[in-house]
Order: sequence, then C-alpha cells, then structure tokens
Amino acid sequence: MSNVERYYITTPIYYVNAKPHLGHAYTTIVADSMARFQRAMGREVRFLTGTDEHGDKIAQAAETAGTTPQAYADEISGLFRDLWPTLKVTNSDFIRTTEQRHKRVVQAILQRVYDAGDIYHGHYEGHYCYGCERFLTEKELEGGKCPDHQTSPELIREKNYFFRMSKYQGWLAEHIRANPGFIRPERYEKEVLAILDSGALEDLCISRPKARLKWGIELPFDTDYVCYVWFDALLNYVSALDWPDGEDFAKFWPVAEHLVAKDILKPHAIFWPTMLKAAGLPVYQHLNVHGYWLIKDTKMSKSLGNVVAPLDMAEKYGLDAFRYFLLREMRFGSDASFSEEALVGRFNADLANDLGNLFNRTLNMCGKYFGSKAPTAALDSPQAAEARELADDATANFRTLFGECRFARGLEALWELVRWGNKFVDEQAPWALAKEGRDAELAEVMSVLLAVLRSVAAHLLPVMPDKAAAMLEQLGQPVTADLAAEIGRFEAPAAGTELAARSNLFPRIDVKALAAEAEAAPKVAPKLKKASKAAPQDGAEADLVSIEEVRKLDLRIGKVLAAEKHPKADKLLKLMIDVGEDAPRQIIAGLADFYVPDELVGRAVTVVVNLKPAKLRGLESQGMVLAVKTEGGMLLLTPNGGAPAGAQVS
Ligand code: ME8
Ligand code: MG
Repeated sequence: MSNVERYYITTPIYYVNAKPHLGHAYTTIVADSMARFQRAMGREVRFLTGTDEHGDKIAQAAETAGTTPQAYADEISGLFRDLWPTLKVTNSDFIRTTEQRHKRVVQAILQRVYDAGDIYHGHYEGHYCYGCERFLTEKELEGGKCPDHQTSPELIREKNYFFRMSKYQGWLAEHIRANPGFIRPERYEKEVLAILDSGALEDLCISRPKARLKWGIELPFDTDYVCYVWFDALLNYVSALDWPDGEDFAKFWPVAEHLVAKDILKPHAIFWPTMLKAAGLPVYQHLNVHGYWLIKDTKMSKSLGNVVAPLDMAEKYGLDAFRYFLLREMRFGSDASFSEEALVGRFNADLANDLGNLFNRTLNMCGKYFGSKAPTAALDSPQAAEARELADDATANFRTLFGECRFARGLEALWELVRWGNKFVDEQAPWALAKEGRDAELAEVMSVLLAVLRSVAAHLLPVMPDKAAAMLEQLGQPVTADLAAEIGRFEAPAAGTELAARSNLFPRIDVKALAAEAEAAPKVAPKLKKASKAAPQDGAEADLVSIEEVRKLDLRIGKVLAAEKHPKADKLLKLMIDVGEDAPRQIIAGLADFYVPDELVGRAVTVVVNLKPAKLRGLESQGMVLAVKTEGGMLLLTPNGGAPAGAQVS
C-alpha cells in the first residue's frame, strides 16, 4: 500500500451549540478544495467532517432551548450535515460523537491508556472555562478572564482522572523537530515548541464527575465519570476509520492531514499526538492551521454574535464566487477580514475583468474568425513556447502551493497566466491579423489562448467546481476526463472541436445597484432586517426571502381570551390566546402603550405560532402577535371578516 496514492483530510467536528457560520464554511470549503485537488491528482481520497456533541456547552445550550441534549444535537447536527452538499462539499463521511461507532472507540482507547498506566485518579482544582471546555492555567488568564470568551472561569475542585500528558512532552518536541511541516505554517509550530520547551506541560484532566455533567461517554473503568469532551472529540479522526481493524484505518490513517483554525491549535498539536502515542497509534502527517475571519477587526464567532451566514453569501454572489473569494482572500495561517465589499472587489477584478474577459474575448473571436470551431494550429510558434513555459510554471507552482495549503499564492500563480493571456491578446491584435488575412498566425494565436484557458479551467475545478466545469464545457472539453493527466498538459482543444459562441460566466457585479437595493431594503422590511442575526454589512444585503422561507412561518388567527399587564414590565401585556390548539397560548406582547388589556379580550389577532418560545422579563412567550406600526402607535393586524381561531394565514 503506497502512501502517495491516498489522502485523508479532516475538518474539526463542529460544536452543535449554534448554527454553522462563515468560519465553519471556510474550513470545510478549504478541505473540499484540497480533497478535490488530490482526487484530480489521481489519489484515493477520504474526507471527513462531522459534529462534536458532548460536553457542558451542548448540555447548557439544550437546557436554554428547553430540550434534551440529544434532540438538540440532532437538530443542529442536521443543519451542518445538510449545509455541506449545498456548498458543493464532497465529504465522504459525516461523524457524530453520539454515534455508537464513535463511543465504542473512545471507550476502547480509554481502557487501553488506563491499562498502560497512563491514566490515574487524583485531585484537581482549576479555573474552568465553559466556552473553551477546559481548565485554563493561571498564565492563560488575562485580568482573571478567559482571553477568548471574556468570561471569568469558574473555580472548580474535584476528584478526577488524569492523562499523563506531561510524560510525552520531550518525545513530542523531538517528533516536531524531526518532522518539519508536521505543524504548518511554521509560526504555529514555533508556538507549540515554545510551550513544550518551557517544560510547563501539565497532565490533562480527562474526566467529569457525573454529578456535575451527565452528557458524555462513560469511562469504562469508572461509571461515576464521563469522558472530557476533547479526549472524546479528537478520537473521531480514527473512529470514523473504524479503528482498530477497519480497512480504512489501515489505508488512510498513515496519510492523515488535519485542518483547523488556530483556536484549537493546542488540543490538536499537543493533546492529540500525545494521546495517540500513549495508545500506541502512529501520529498524523500534518496539522494545517489557519487564522480567523474577522469582521471589522474582531473574530467572527457565535459567542460574539457577529456571524455571517455562508448560504446568504453563496445565494447572493454565487457559490463559486464565494468559494473563490475565501481561498483567494485569506493567506493561509493569517487572519483575514470578511466584508461584502472585499468580495465584490475581488470578484470584479479577478473573475469579471481578468478571467471572464479573457474567456469572453477568446470565444467571441473564435466565433467570428473560425465559426466557433477550434482552429488547426501546431502550437510551435515562439509565442506558443512562451505560453507553454508560463503554463508549466503555473501548474508546477499551483501544485506545490496547493499541496502546502498556500491557496492564495497558488491562485496568484494561476492568474499570472490569465493576465499574460489578456496582454497577449492586446499585443497580437487578432483583429488586425484577420483583416490582413494572416490566417495561419491568427489560428496559432487563438489556439494559444484556448490552450491557456483550458489549463486555467482545469486548475480551477477544485475551487470553483461548477464554473470551471462550465468553462471546460464551453471549450468542448469533457469534464470527466482524468484530470491528473489533463492538468499538466498544455494543449488546445482538437481542431474542429465545437466551442461556445459566447460566454458570460462572470458578469460584473454592479456595486451601485447593490447599494440601491440595500438602501431600499430597510424601508420595505425593517423588522426582518433587525431580526436577522447575520452581521450587519456596510455594503448590501438583499432582504429578499424565498417562498420556502415564507412557508416556514406558521401564521394563524388567534382569539384573545384574557389580557393583563405584565407584572414587571410597563410596555408589555400578558395575553392568553386561543390558536385552535388544546390549550391557549401565553404570549407576551409589547402593546401596553397602545391598548388597555380589556379592550383586547375577544379580539381576533394574527399570531406567529412557530416562533421559538422565549422568556420576556420572566414570563414565557409562546409566539408573537403581529401589529402594524403607524404614526399613532401600533395597530393589531386583524382578519377582515370572521375567521375562526386556528385558521391558517397564507
Ligand atoms: O472547536 N475564522 O468546534 P467549533 C475561521 N468542537 N475559522 C473559524 C472561525 C473564524 N472566525 N470560527 C470558527 C470546536 N471557525 C471543537 C472541535 S475537533 C476534534 C473539535 C472554524 O464549532 C475553525 O475551523 O468551535 C475552527 O477551528 C472551528 O470552526 C471551531 O469550531
Ligand atoms: Mg469554538
């Protein structure tokens, strides 16, 4: 079994305490591009993503939502699972830590490490951060707070099980030094070595008493405890391969590459290799670490609430443009800022101007001069030789850079070829050649351009799967061809190949039109805009929703049975409303300034019945009453004519 033929790429398994956002989409789209690229290079690829479902965080989120951890995990895990295909992510597996196949492996490894004497029982006192799901050292605290979550950790003292992680710090430092690129980019390797070399590595607390937390995998050697979520989660990378006997484990573990952001560097660079070592498993090949997407200089995160919804961006600008932007804009390892202006700027410069323009011009000219059939040419002119050399360089650079996760540089290398193509058109002036009847030269020039575009499109397949396939199709090239061979070959479509007469794959985004749309939007739907959790963008945000989204709202006519003032809030009324169910609903509404309670009783109102229940100043509200804002105040939205309680509004 040779290693070069296989490739195993993983993303973090995401917590199910909040919906997927741009950060998760970035990592997963990058992993997808890597997987597609490796497949194109002829490798057998396994690509794993999934969800991390145990631990305090999830238990707390479920409690807040008033449901069980399992039901909560099922729902959010489903959101992740369903998002990936819509982003054209080609993961081969999706693992959940609540699955039996995973729990089995966690227990087996725990038992193994315990039997080997690397797990012991001891006392522990420490500062526990619920956001990080781990104890923070004194050194890590900033002003007594967790620097990542800006919360004060809780001081916890209890008896727990510990993994002898400190025992392996010397071994790990040596392994990292002997294997450059084990952690990359280099700055993260240095960061990890600094921790190891300080000699301050402590043992890892790997249990939680059930008295405090039940939502986890039971320790096989002490049923009073569950496993610490990180010890559980990291093992997903091998449980999904069916360790120890799975064929996939034998095939893919030797070529494992992990992809994570720097927030989880320590668990992946220190906990994980030492766990593997203690369990007698070989370590992974590479840990690839990227930086953060920032919104106006602040990390985008669910705890800060400044998240961008990936699907919104893909719908607004096109999935492939979004994918291109993510890979092109972020220097792998460093932080990058996300804004719609930056996305539009990139799109217009790289895709509409450089690539789209070259592609359109070339197809137009082939239509005009050769009836949209690939011309016959030898590709033996000095210009063809120059183009071939450039294309070979672009291919070599692109391959190396993509293999090293340096995506922005890889795409830049490819764009050197694109820009050369545009310059080449201007210099060669094919229209002049046509006018002068220099047909052979004209055919040679057009063939060079077609060869350049074919090469560029083949390289772009891992990044923009649909647009690149469309380009190849318009060039009359089969997309199913073995791309491993294709990518490196500088060749024009065979003479006579039918070409598209024109192309408009990357139409310029009109910034002014978008801005106008954004300006108009708040006037149309101020409520929706406010309610939207997506980060406010400076540029534009279309407030259009699809019919499916509208249908998600369950609107019904309700009859007010009782109304009284909220005991703790002047502006709120507590209403009991019959919406055609067995029991009336309690709904808290901000109507106290506009209606006296008694005048509401008996009125028909419009109710959003599938709104998530929420507590408003201590009282639960199970829905929302719709009202119209006028200059004089609020007016209830009521049906025109008689409608029974429970009638559907559509
Ligand atoms: O940490 N910029 O899950 P998580 C870039 N369950 N990437 C970001 C990002 C941002 N602003 N925000 C999130 C966990 N990410 C654990 C992992 S693995 C065995 C267990 C991405 O839901 C990035 O990949 O908090 C980051 O590492 C990951 O989401 C954290 O996801
Ligand atoms: Mg996180």
